[in-house]
Amino acid sequence: MKRPSPSRRSFLKTSAATAAALTTSGSLSALQSAPAVHQGGGQLKIGIVGVGGRGSGAAVQAVTAHPENILVSAGDAFADRLESGLAGIEETLTESKRKAQFQVTKERRFVGLDAIDQVLNSGVDAVLLASPPGFRPMQIEKAVAKGVHVFAEKPIATDAPGVRRVAAACALARQKGLSIVSGLCYRYHDARRAVVQRLQEGGIGEILAMQGNYVTGELWSFPRQPQWSELEWQLRNWLYYPWLSGDLIAEQHIHTLDVMAWIKRDVYPRAAASLGGRQKRTDSQFGTIYDHFATIYEWEDGTRGYSYCRQQNDCWRDVNEYIVGTEGRANVFQSTITGKNEWRFQGKVRDMYQAEHDEMFAALRAGKRIDNGDYMCNSTLMALMGRMAAYTGKRVTWDEALNSQEVLMPDLLAWDAEPPKSVVAVPGITKFI
Ligand SMILES: NC(=O)c1ccc[n+]([C@@H]2O[C@H](COP(=O)([O-])OP(=O)(O)OC[C@H]3O[C@@H](n4cnc5c(N)ncnc54)[C@H](O)[C@@H]3O)[C@@H](O)[C@H]2O)c1
Repeated sequence: MKRPSPSRRSFLKTSAATAAALTTSGSLSALQSAPAVHQGGGQLKIGIVGVGGRGSGAAVQAVTAHPENILVSAGDAFADRLESGLAGIEETLTESKRKAQFQVTKERRFVGLDAIDQVLNSGVDAVLLASPPGFRPMQIEKAVAKGVHVFAEKPIATDAPGVRRVAAACALARQKGLSIVSGLCYRYHDARRAVVQRLQEGGIGEILAMQGNYVTGELWSFPRQPQWSELEWQLRNWLYYPWLSGDLIAEQHIHTLDVMAWIKRDVYPRAAASLGGRQKRTDSQFGTIYDHFATIYEWEDGTRGYSYCRQQNDCWRDVNEYIVGTEGRANVFQSTITGKNEWRFQGKVRDMYQAEHDEMFAALRAGKRIDNGDYMCNSTLMALMGRMAAYTGKRVTWDEALNSQEVLMPDLLAWDAEPPKSVVAVPGITKFI
């Protein structure tokens, strides 16, 4: 039986829309020359879309990255989230930074599902995207069309058509010289960078297997309020709806999957098979996502990735990657290698969330662009391939996942619309689309 070559599993060959845009063998954090949009000094205006927990953090980090980075505008679906998020940012900044770099006036605070439009029209040079992931394809497309540099939280889509749209937008960003920086923050963690580099250079010989865990507890939820429509309920509790979050394998476990692919030099697996379901979070308040997945990823060269994620309280927890090779083993979280080439990382580790922004804005000011577009799309698809395999009970190949026609996220979403129909998937019954 003819096996697909690794390059066939890339967007380069499989998606006409993104031809000549993406490959599966991207560099760690490609830094390329770009039009010197902001070379040297001067103010750089930043907008934020989705001023929740992560968005507020990203805004502080962007402002901290350079004294002339000015936060000028913000948008959120909800006025209360917008104001509480902005208040949190103000509180976190030192007084001098607040005075000089926090300039989100009342006129530049926007509320609505398409608040991105107004944020992009407020004269920003860069935008931080941290709303629920379902909105990300639309937001990235609009930012790139407007010529604005992007920091995009992970994952970048909740369905394959969304991934394809983002890949096409990233191709356009390349042509326009725009930076695309991903919130897949492990790639900006100094110790992980060092251990992954060693593994890529053969530090444990040939890699045979990888085990990646994101086994943790439950996350937050908001109680239903009588005045909320069904749409507002789902948006406020977006984690629990696959059309908004992608399910926990994409929303959270993607970090682990991204590390596995990174270790494999950004060659992505050819197929996945997965077991998953919901055992504890069965109440309707938890929408339609699963609470655990156990997924086997197969690489073309025979490497296997065993990946486990769970969000259940009062259970064993572990967030780490364990790598087994012909000449040793690696513990990625501990940044250690045992076996033939014993090694332990001993350097300084920066805050990885701050490092993302420090590197993004230093590059922009140096007339360079950072391009994380390939891996942010491919790692999202890797997670979605695992979800498709678990939901359907089938082994799903990369090409099948990439070409999936299932649209979870509607094109247009108005406040008076019904949310898309969402049911809990049942393996063996739920169809692959
Ligand atoms: N890299 C990381 O380690 C990390 C950590 C946490 C979260 N995240 C990611 O960051 C994103 C946000 O997560 P969070 O924990 O901050 O969630 P959150 O719920 O705290 O924040 C999301 C915000 O987006 C707003 N929102 C909803 N729809 C919107 C729309 N159409 N336009 C504008 N705003 C909208 C919500 O009202 C909310 O304020 C997610 O993609 C998540 O996966 C990444």
